[in-house]
Amino acid sequence: MTKPKPIRVLVVAGARPNFVKIAPLMDRLSSLTSGEAETLLLHTGQHYDEALSQLFFDQLGIPRPQINLEVGSGPHGKQTAEIMARFEPVVLDWKPDVVVVVGDVNSTLACALVAVKLCVPVAHVEAGLRSFDRTMPEEINRLLTDAISDFLFASEPSGVENLRREGVAEEKIHLVGNVMIDSLQKFLRVARQTSVLRDLGLLPYGQPSATEGKPRPYAVLTMHRPSNVDEKEKLASLLEVLGEVGQQIPILFPAHPRTQERLERFGLQSKVRTRWTEADCGVLVTGPIGYLEFLHLMSEATFVLTDSGGIQEETTVLGVPCLTLRENTERPITVEEGTNTVVGTDPVCILTAARAILAGKGKKGRTPTLWDGRAAERIVAILMDRLMSAA
Ligand code: UD1
Repeated sequence: MTKPKPIRVLVVAGARPNFVKIAPLMDRLSSLTSGEAETLLLHTGQHYDEALSQLFFDQLGIPRPQINLEVGSGPHGKQTAEIMARFEPVVLDWKPDVVVVVGDVNSTLACALVAVKLCVPVAHVEAGLRSFDRTMPEEINRLLTDAISDFLFASEPSGVENLRREGVAEEKIHLVGNVMIDSLQKFLRVARQTSVLRDLGLLPYGQPSATEGKPRPYAVLTMHRPSNVDEKEKLASLLEVLGEVGQQIPILFPAHPRTQERLERFGLQSKVRTRWTEADCGVLVTGPIGYLEFLHLMSEATFVLTDSGGIQEETTVLGVPCLTLRENTERPITVEEGTNTVVGTDPVCILTAARAILAGKGKKGRTPTLWDGRAAERIVAILMDRLMSAA
């Protein structure tokens, strides 16, 4: 009898949130023997800045990608097309048994589309999430990726319901938990050792070490969605109300390069600060920070304001109240069970919600089922089981 060939798994990552999701998958895949599986890690190069990419690989211990497509930034059509054009020869050459894509960024859709057209099964990690807002580029990426995937790994029950409603066959859907939380569970302890609180002036002066002592109260802000930062009036009005919140509690704002660029282009730098002293308040903007530093910062925050998806999930697990600066969420479990409140972008709603938290009325919440640090383990077990029996 001939020995079965190892299963070839091609894992795709392209943008910052992808790296946090592939880390536990790569970890798990690396525990398989070379007779069982061969893994190829491919970076599309959608995010290329040191702070958005290499730093995450280093901190999360992700192996160096064997291939980097180096597509860089560009308009959606061009970026997606570039990724497709450069990814196709890789698939033709390496002949994977499955292509694994994560999340909802342009790299996710582009690589899924190439694979399915070459008749290679696609596994989508974080399938089924829906904001029901088709003006969000990520919603289009989610809908289309799910429509062409063979393995749909959902992180929460709403994902399963959405896929069923869209007519996805039951045997393709697997509720496995949340890979982003696998990373959080693994790295939280080491994240708490970073010097970020001291570096950002949040520890009272004169304390002996970065890991000792309680920081002064602060909030954390992230904002990079086109709907919040691409129009001057919208961004200005958000910064106005955030500045008001910042009078009551200092706000740390590690800004995405896209947001930093908009702040400059719209001449809005006066609405934020770039440094402060102990007594200062307001919104302090910094460049993007590492995964560990950000986790540390979130874990000690009084609350978090964000338009990101993943941060709604991370704050739920950390038990830190989260105010989502969007009109909807594709992650309803963070509202139903977790610490998330979708406040939208109306200044009065933001102020009211922030004041409620400062008055001690922040949501407590609980960690959703299966967000237990073992999602990657379940995903790899299902993939290996199905692909080996199909071989
Ligand atoms: C992408 C994802 C978004 C995700 C976010 C996380 C899509 C459609 N969007 O948005 O879902 O929440 O990543 O960060 O895929 N830039 C740099 N350096 C980089 C990368 C980007 O300066 O390494 C700047 C460029 O000016 C670029 C802009 O950021 O044009 C936007 O980058 P892009 O990858 O198109 O989308 P993000 O806004 O990062």
